[in-house]
Amino acid sequence: MKLISLLLASILIPLNTMSQTPPNYNESKVPALHLPDPFVSEKGKLIHTVEDWEKTRRPEIFRLFESEVYGQLPKDFEAISFEVVKENANPFSQIADLEEVNITVGRNGKSHTIRINFFLPKPQKGPFPVILLINYLPNYPDGKLVDEAFWPVRELIQRGLATASFHVETVAPDDAKTYQNGIISTLYPEQIGKSDGLKAFGAWGWAAMRAMDYLEQHPRIDSKKSVLVGHSRTGKTALWTSANDPRWAITYANESGCGGAALSKRKFGETIEAINTRFPHWFADNFLKYNGKEESLPLDQHLLPGLIAPRAVYYSSAREDRWADPKGEYLGIQLGSRIASEIYGKKAVFEKEFEEFEGPVHLESVGYHIREGAHDLTWEDWRIFLEFVEKNLD
Ligand code: GCU
Repeated sequence: MKLISLLLASILIPLNTMSQTPPNYNESKVPALHLPDPFVSEKGKLIHTVEDWEKTRRPEIFRLFESEVYGQLPKDFEAISFEVVKENANPFSQIADLEEVNITVGRNGKSHTIRINFFLPKPQKGPFPVILLINYLPNYPDGKLVDEAFWPVRELIQRGLATASFHVETVAPDDAKTYQNGIISTLYPEQIGKSDGLKAFGAWGWAAMRAMDYLEQHPRIDSKKSVLVGHSRTGKTALWTSANDPRWAITYANESGCGGAALSKRKFGETIEAINTRFPHWFADNFLKYNGKEESLPLDQHLLPGLIAPRAVYYSSAREDRWADPKGEYLGIQLGSRIASEIYGKKAVFEKEFEEFEGPVHLESVGYHIREGAHDLTWEDWRIFLEFVEKNLD
């Protein structure tokens, strides 16, 4: 199933982008970068201290991402309840307990239910650190809960970690025509039609926050040791979620590319126009203004890790995944980690240029690796990332 979807994706990219400018894969054609300075406020004030950052510059940057890129992520609701149901067999019953949890959220007399699947090591009682993966792969036709290549539950459990996942389809369908048919039209209809309104990434991020509401009150979970993981489109989502929700200790975006880790102004691989054309339901409508006009964006993705600092951020790339622009992803974290190092005093300086390092680079609160091969979240990615988790979850 997964292989088919990957093959389809690689076939679809050239076909769908044919009517637009073809993607640039030539480094010598990357324009000179003029990136907004994280350390100068909109009024020209120099930003040196944690207070300058948290009171002045961070809110400015957050508002820009909210209005120009991702759209609002509403935080209000009236009621939330959790119900553990038993619908599927536990594929790991020897080593883990399974909780299938319906999370029902109410607002303005309406309600919506999302489902998380949650495995806890047994027979230990915990409290355990927890990893939440945002899943968007096609639903498994036989109804099974886990594709182990993508979500290595067994290995995580064997390392003493609890792990949960939800599918984006239970929140907002990943489809340009139907994406509102979840929480957007039910719980937040006033967002529809706003140029900075809630779109699919915000909706999926909202669901990750509701999952955290469950994990936070769970007696067997140490929610201070929580890790949010997303691949590709859900890597972009994970970053925006964590910018909105300080409860995640570590945020991992694997191969999140355009609109995630990678600098948009490089216009290498996927561009803003390409992503907005194929996936108009992901970002705020305001993001359309920058189709073919990356130079006029008042921000770039190097400012995103700073919204998560001093909490940990981890990126990874695959060498053949040129569509996601590995160098742009590296620059995103290399430049983005300056908030962690210069404002929060973390040992978080990426010394090497992209071309000269082999990696992985595991620093204090930031990390990166690149592996051989194509676009995918593989066990190799998880294995290297888990080494970072071990060092950064204390
Ligand atoms: C497409 C899209 C990317 C996205 C990817 C994925 O390739 O262009 O932006 O990251 O799908 O989510 O797999």
